[in-house]
Amino acid sequence: TITHVVLTGGIGSRLWPLSRKTLPKQYLELFDGQSLFEKTVLRNENVSTKTIVVGNIENYKMSNAIMSKFNKHFTHIIEAVPRNTAAAIAFAALASKPDDILLITPSDHIIGGTELYNNALWHAIVLANQDYLVTFGIQPTKPETGYGYIEFENENVIAFHEKPDFKTAVRYLESGNYFWNSGLFCFKAGKFLAELEKQEPEVYQTSKIAWESNINGFLDYDLSLNIPSISIDYAVMERSNDIKVIPAHFDWSDLGSFESVYDYLVQKGHPIDANRNIVIGTSLHTTFIGVKNCILIYTSDALMVLQKENSQEVKQVYQQLESIA
Ligand code: GDD
Ligand code: MG
Repeated sequence: TITHVVLTGGIGSRLWPLSRKTLPKQYLELFDGQSLFEKTVLRNENVSTKTIVVGNIENYKMSNAIMSKFNKHFTHIIEAVPRNTAAAIAFAALASKPDDILLITPSDHIIGGTELYNNALWHAIVLANQDYLVTFGIQPTKPETGYGYIEFENENVIAFHEKPDFKTAVRYLESGNYFWNSGLFCFKAGKFLAELEKQEPEVYQTSKIAWESNINGFLDYDLSLNIPSISIDYAVMERSNDIKVIPAHFDWSDLGSFESVYDYLVQKGHPIDANRNIVIGTSLHTTFIGVKNCILIYTSDALMVLQKENSQEVKQVYQQLESIA
């Protein structure tokens, strides 16, 4: 069995006010009338025979509405509280047979080039069957600090470094043998669980206990609170010796911050003024004077103007506003 595991539990706080707790960016119909969630499911249906969606109850309602539109069956795992990606993936692995191949994908990326994408997946499945944890490497173009970096030699991974500081990211970029981690993973369910047990036994044990008492895919709140909140990148990828990387030749954009949304939109021909300012979300006449590289985001109840380079700081704004977001 090849199971597509869709991670949909994030809130996309760096894209506030476009992305809200009640309507996270993966469900917004931002691109050609389709949500990123929908695109993710459709993109992976050629390769996979089964789909597991992991997210909270709100995510479940939105996922279900989309899946029933296509008449698609899926298994849902409903988190009582987000415990980050190591646990979310552990639940999907525990719900599978040890030899099932899991293809883990975020639900909020833009990927182009179907054939190149499918080829990379088939290649990954071969390596996953040999008990490797497979990652997909993106050629870096700037010293982005919001990504993981994969130090590689051919298909072999020398080391995985999650979210380096700026100086380190510059060094990685210059040295030429580092990829960005795309955030897609492929491995056997049993192999992932064995590595998690070895590297982060507490996450493994508490996730297992929480999973074993699930009721129809719903996890228990109190048992979930016992699970340490850590991402797969820190918990497993930085520590395992059995990682391979497949260079990704397909187009990839993590619409994780307004800077990447900006780059994506501009590349797609979105209007931009002489000082490289852009407007998202309104056709109101908007003028920028004396400012450069700004993004204005307009929604029905919030307005934000930011310097593109400061995109990572939106997360803090979101955290301050959390009660009204
Ligand atoms: N179900 C569930 N539960 N999903 C979650 C949770 C959770 O607790 N936390 C995050 N997710 C989902 C998000 O919705 C997203 O689809 C995916 O898991 C990855 O989480 P992010 O929070 O977006 O991670 P990131 O962007 O900081 O970093 C990851 O992705 C980068 C590329 O986009 C890492 O894998 C980096 O190494 C990588 O470069
Ligand atoms: Mg992300």
